[in-house]
Amino acid sequence: MTQLPGLLDTEAIRKDFPILDRQVHDGRKLVYLDNAATSQKPRQVLDALSEYYERYNANVHRGVHVLAEEATALYEGARDKVAAFVNAPSRDEVIFTKNASESLNLVANMLGWADEPYRVDAETEIVITEMEHHSNIVPWQLLSQRTGAKLKWFGLTDDGRLDLSNIDEVITEKTKIVSFVLVSNILGTVNPVEAIVRRAQEVGALVCIDASQAAPHMPLDVQALQADFVAFTGHKMCGPTGIGVLWGRQELLEDLPPFLGGGEMIETVSMHSSTYAPAPHKFEAGTPPIAQAVGLGAAIDYLNAIGMDKILAHEHAITEYAVKRLTEVPDLRIIGPATAEDRGAAISFTLGDIHPHDVGQVLDEQGIAVRVGHHCARPVCLRYGIPATTRASFYLYSTPAEIDALVDGLEHVRNFFG
Ligand code: ALA
Repeated sequence: MTQLPGLLDTEAIRKDFPILDRQVHDGRKLVYLDNAATSQKPRQVLDALSEYYERYNANVHRGVHVLAEEATALYEGARDKVAAFVNAPSRDEVIFTKNASESLNLVANMLGWADEPYRVDAETEIVITEMEHHSNIVPWQLLSQRTGAKLKWFGLTDDGRLDLSNIDEVITEKTKIVSFVLVSNILGTVNPVEAIVRRAQEVGALVCIDASQAAPHMPLDVQALQADFVAFTGHKMCGPTGIGVLWGRQELLEDLPPFLGGGEMIETVSMHSSTYAPAPHKFEAGTPPIAQAVGLGAAIDYLNAIGMDKILAHEHAITEYAVKRLTEVPDLRIIGPATAEDRGAAISFTLGDIHPHDVGQVLDEQGIAVRVGHHCARPVCLRYGIPATTRASFYLYSTPAEIDALVDGLEHVRNFFG
């Protein structure tokens, strides 16, 4: 068995994930390499979810009975866990949403409805990058169409990194918001936050970071990032689907208007007007994803018990091994950084002129789960002149043997297609 420095005890960890024992296609062992799409869930999270429904289920912030109080304590306890996980200065800076897309849409809408000095209008500019997930492109296109603000973006270098050579022309005195991904879901690139934040701060622009592919994989410190907003989702970090997070700086959350109106986000309501509850509740209209927040809290406990530093080291070792092994496959072209430096645990590639959907299907027949397509980042495929990629993405339970299985599987794909 291949041993690499920095690996976690995956034999023990994999026992926590019942699904990893599954067999598919008539007894083939599942090799799950689609973690950037969603991670698998450990027993500890599954148990927290069923315990919540078996013992505590009630609506939060509304009842005086025992269950309502216990459910509220669990829901708000999950907020404390998220705040500590990202080193937020205050728990009130953590807003629960349904996913990272909703978090990013929330930021775009806050700014669209805001008064000065935050207001985005026809005199102002919005900056994103060409490597964004659609969830960090479309909300800004909508905002630009609604307000007349100009949408600008950083392009990409041939090796899959941000081209910041024109940073002073892209981010200008007119820029209101710079929104960019910390780790690309398609290229795997880890972006240079400091340089972008420094320039944004020079011109007084707000910074929003999509940390969906970072929060599950590395220590995340919103204070060190010096951003104004950080968005991520629970289901990629061992938590359930249906729960996302937006962290925002407290003074901004106090000043900015809500996006969704409804129950529990108000202070008073009359038939003429309403006043709003303080953040974070101002931004959590309606019954929130209570069980999902509790599940996310359990996921955070699970990740913390292993240690985010150790998870990062494990994934770096796996990614380094995967880059090395994939580079040996004839006709394989990595789309994105071709080394393990400054890259996350998602590797996209093409294999000769075999369509990625065919690659994915033949891999699936061997029990190997990868994602194929444009990965909700179509502008990246357009930039590199390809219709789609095959993407293998790793997590804390991924093993060198699974990378070997992928490489063998690709050999089979090549033979199959002649
Ligand atoms: N954003 C997820 C992915 O990259 C769904 O696959």
